[in-house]
Amino acid sequence: MKTMHNIITIDGPSGVGKGTLARKLAQKLNYILLDSGAIYRLAALWLLDNDVDLDDEKAVVKALSLFDIHFASQDGQTHAYLNNQDVTKRIRQEKVGMLASKVAALAKLREMLLQKQRDFASIGNGLVADGRDMGTVVFPQAKHKFFLEASSQIRAKRRFDELREKGEAADYDIILSELEKRDFQDRNRKVAPLVPAEDAVIVNTDQLSIDEVFITVYKGIKD
Ligand code: DC
Repeated sequence: MKTMHNIITIDGPSGVGKGTLARKLAQKLNYILLDSGAIYRLAALWLLDNDVDLDDEKAVVKALSLFDIHFASQDGQTHAYLNNQDVTKRIRQEKVGMLASKVAALAKLREMLLQKQRDFASIGNGLVADGRDMGTVVFPQAKHKFFLEASSQIRAKRRFDELREKGEAADYDIILSELEKRDFQDRNRKVAPLVPAEDAVIVNTDQLSIDEVFITVYKGIKD
């Protein structure tokens, strides 16, 4: 397996700050960004909108064969399109995140999304890929692999503060229990579960600010 020097993978549980870190790194390095969670969210929304029975593998495969997605930059933000409809806001809903975690356990679905994710590596100078299995399954040959960790309480508190800051309703206990449920599903599924790659650098962000996480990871890449 040939090492790919221009691929950085950032894996970790929900709400650990992977997205923010990946975005900052991609900007700094002028690399392409792959938010793989958004792809799972798009798949979940597509199956939801088409009323597909998740236990019916044939129906899932059939629906996904008509699944067309793309991302586009608009006003400094990445917009997600599902069959040419802008669904950026819809895929961020908590219920879609939970459903994404559920559909992400389907082996066939993961297989169908694999190439879509790998294609991102051939677009630009390099790639920062964020998700759950970027370093283990999608880009095992990446040179730089990071796995972010933080306690579920700290992740829930950060999410709570973020929602409050935006003026949105937030309940800490609900956020914590949903986050722990999603973690459990993601860590315990049979295919591509959430685990650090053997060669990943683990970064515990409990006591670190976003800037400190960035500096730690950036140093790791440059060393
Ligand atoms: O990162 P996120 O919250 O947007 O991801 C939503 C769900 O998608 C997550 O709970 C599990 C699934 N997912 C996955 O299984 N593998 C990935 N590489 C990314 C996300």
